[in-house]
Amino acid sequence: MEIVLHNSISLDGSLTHFDIDMGQHYQIAGEYKADANLIGSNTIKTGVELYGEAPPEESNDFKKPERDKNLPNWVIIDTKGILQGLLHEVRRFEFCKDVIILISRETPEQYIKYLTERNYDYHVVGNKKVDIEKALDLLSEKYDVSSILVDTGSTLGNILLKKRLVTKISILVHPIIVGSKSHNMFRNIDANIKLKLLSSKTLGDNNILLVYEPIY
Ligand SMILES: NC(=O)c1ccc[n+]([C@@H]2O[C@H](COP(=O)([O-])OP(=O)(O)OC[C@H]3O[C@@H](n4cnc5c(N)ncnc54)[C@H](OP(=O)(O)O)[C@@H]3O)[C@@H](O)[C@H]2O)c1
Repeated sequence: MEIVLHNSISLDGSLTHFDIDMGQHYQIAGEYKADANLIGSNTIKTGVELYGEAPPEESNDFKKPERDKNLPNWVIIDTKGILQGLLHEVRRFEFCKDVIILISRETPEQYIKYLTERNYDYHVVGNKKVDIEKALDLLSEKYDVSSILVDTGSTLGNILLKKRLVTKISILVHPIIVGSKSHNMFRNIDANIKLKLLSSKTLGDNNILLVYEPIY
């Protein structure tokens, strides 16, 4: 399975506390043409909250969208149901084929009811947390996924790296230093991971895209 971890960072490695060039971030993400995007629940929650209060649901929000079948599904891990009441905002996004939710045996019943009533595909893959390897097998078998773009925070990104599942790291470096506020992209990695540089290019006047392959 090809798994690309794509993030925008400051020069000093922070994922937050600066203005990300969202247009460029998502343009590059799209260029990987992955079969699915994998995203953590905190990333979705933070992103949705940026737009203020969620708009009320409409009848279309209860149906699967009819979109180009070549678009990626957005696969979100959300065992605690923190996205209850917010998922219609994600489903409305035009570049998302539909939303698939991965949950565990501990996921609250009322969240499962919420997902069922709105026709979201969901899968129980784990006891407490989502079993990542099982989730990847499921995506491959049920949705024919062979490439994944991971657009998430350090928590899920570092779990995938520690499990040696990431095959490419794609980093869009922004020309800014955030210093002591830095939320380092690799904050939970303990052992060094060697990298092979696959490409580097300057984008526009300011940003640099670095693509590496981890050598495990
Ligand atoms: N600069 C960038 O490129 C960029 C990109 C994306 C996000 N961000 C920023 O990153 C922040 C959010 O990142 P975050 O690190 O808080 O969270 P995150 O990576 O978005 O979410 C954590 C995810 O990891 C899952 N998880 C945690 N432990 C797990 C385990 N043991 N096994 C399997 N899954 C596990 C959680 O699932 P459950 O809790 O549901 O079990 C959750 O879905 C936000 O501030 C966002 O703006 C920046």
